[in-house]
Amino acid sequence: MSEWNARVVEWYAAKYGEYPTNRLAADAIDVTPDAVVVDVGCGTGSALRRLASRVPNGRLIGVDPTARMLEIARERSVNDPNGHRIEFREGPAERLPVDDACADLVLAFDSIDHWKDRRAGLLEVRRVLRPDGRVAVVKDGGLPGDSELRRGLYSQLEGAGLRVVSEHRLTEDEISCTLWVIEPA
Ligand SMILES: C[S@@+](CC[C@H](N)C(=O)[O-])C[C@H]1O[C@@H](n2cnc3c(N)ncnc32)[C@H](O)[C@@H]1O
Repeated sequence: MSEWNARVVEWYAAKYGEYPTNRLAADAIDVTPDAVVVDVGCGTGSALRRLASRVPNGRLIGVDPTARMLEIARERSVNDPNGHRIEFREGPAERLPVDDACADLVLAFDSIDHWKDRRAGLLEVRRVLRPDGRVAVVKDGGLPGDSELRRGLYSQLEGAGLRVVSEHRLTEDEISCTLWVIEPA
């Protein structure tokens, strides 16, 4: 999606805003009750709403550069029991509005392909990550085994000082995604 204009945002939020991969991946991730979680390209906020009950003493920060998407995220969080605990901030992956070394967990669910500059975004993810923090990257459908796309992702992660520690294929009915758990190298 090259441009997240108002029409595209309304379409995306209605069709994919609560897409099951958010739930599948959020449930598969280890998180501590006091974690600081930053969701980069958070969309409508569904992954954070799903994680929130497992992070009762932590912080939940959703970041997205698309103002209308954040409005929808805030609207959907109003009626969620934990929604008031989620803080939404406007900004792109390439300039995260988040302090250095504060995040225990950074999420990038179906988001990195939409960043304008993936190298810059991954360097920002590394900047905000605590030394013992983790990143969870999710791609709907995943990536072919030995492919240019996969090699490109791994090499960009390495360039940002990050490394994949595990890869998980998650499926439910016809839906599938791949979750990569990533740590500082
Ligand atoms: C396919 S949606 C995924 C949203 C959500 N993570 C989910 O899985 O439902 C991609 C999101 O990336 C956001 N986005 C676009 N450009 C971005 C950038 N440069 N940095 C971070 N997010 C970006 C869009 O606004 C959109 O919310």
